[in-house]
Amino acid sequence: MPHDFMPGLAGIPAAKSAVSDVDGEHGVLEYRGIRVEELCQRSSYLETAYLLLFGHLPTRPALAQWEQDIAHHRRVKYSIVDLMKCLPEQGHPMDVLQAAVAALGMFYPGRNVKDMENNYWSDVRLIAKLPTIIAGWARLRRGDDAIAPRDDLAFSENFFYMLTETMPHPLWVEIFDDCLILHAEHTMNASTFTGLVTASTLADPYTVVASSLGALKGPLHGGANEEVVQMLKEIGTVDQAARYVEQRFHNKQKLMGFGHRVYKVKDPRATILQSLCEKLFSTCGTSQLYDIAVRVERRAVELLDGKKVYPNVDFYSGIIYDKMGIDSDLFTPIFAMARVSGWLAHWLEQLRENKLFRPDQIYAGEHNRPYVPLDQR
Ligand code: ACO
Repeated sequence: MPHDFMPGLAGIPAAKSAVSDVDGEHGVLEYRGIRVEELCQRSSYLETAYLLLFGHLPTRPALAQWEQDIAHHRRVKYSIVDLMKCLPEQGHPMDVLQAAVAALGMFYPGRNVKDMENNYWSDVRLIAKLPTIIAGWARLRRGDDAIAPRDDLAFSENFFYMLTETMPHPLWVEIFDDCLILHAEHTMNASTFTGLVTASTLADPYTVVASSLGALKGPLHGGANEEVVQMLKEIGTVDQAARYVEQRFHNKQKLMGFGHRVYKVKDPRATILQSLCEKLFSTCGTSQLYDIAVRVERRAVELLDGKKVYPNVDFYSGIIYDKMGIDSDLFTPIFAMARVSGWLAHWLEQLRENKLFRPDQIYAGEHNRPYVPLDQR
């Protein structure tokens, strides 16, 4: 059967899914049919995670139960903390997270992925424990003790508490929770696809999420948020921004946080994140990085005129986390602690009609070559 090869599988559907949808021409993103703008205004991250996983918004008692289940499973076993203590302090938090998630699977063996009750508890544990691992590592690598989660705190509030041992400003919690909503899901991206390929072998969900984490880490995907802030710091001042962009384009280098396979307009998440930046600055003053970013965007859009390349979700998110005092190498792990609900929603959906991924290839090599003995080469 002849096939056209599409590098990066661009435009090739890899699944039928009802989890989310992107209209890349008009900049619309919906989770289970609800626009992200509305979810940011009216929902919480945990409610949105429930929506993604189960396909509908929870009733009040269902939401309370879900929140309670998550709160009760935030702690990680001391062996996981011991394992993290053995890792090099300079290890990237994404690598630590991937190692810890793979290890978690050994404590909660759920090899039978047809057991939906067990799958529910895997969903709960993964969503609940990722923040504990990330915040724990942020402290352990500095020689501090990890702080145990508090069941009485809401999801985002608890993350800040575990990170800093202090209670954050309520507006910060609200903005951070919106950031998690915006990162929770995004159709058939590289990390979701990676997870689904692993899931198609009927691997357990911890292995699925560990696979997705590996794909998310790369700078062309979730790793871009960390690189954007490094780039803005390197630019240093607003005056340097336009020249930096011009030079980068002159050297045929891409701008991190720009461009998207699907969006042909500005990513709607970037637009919301930009407004969240401005909301955040009302409590703690503006950020030089933001002023540089706005200037970078203006010059880049002028220069990229016609290519339909605009800021993506990674362009403004790091500025928010940086202003909140979060280390830049935690940005991608924070992306992951939100996106895990999207990965798991796709995993559950695929399990209903699973088929092993086994794509084809176009062989471009030789045939019938003789084996040349070692002493004749
Ligand atoms: N800066 C400058 N030019 C760009 C950029 C960019 N960031 N992104 C795309 N372009 C240009 C390309 O140079 C190319 O131009 P050409 O046709 O003249 O050669 C054209 O736009 C198409 O770009 P491709 O790389 O072919 O598009 P693709 O869909 O494969 O790439 C990607 C999408 C990987 C996201 C790309 O835009 C990129 O590398 N961006 C920077 C990294 C980044 O921000 N990643 C995060 C994406 S969002 C996420 O994963 C959470």
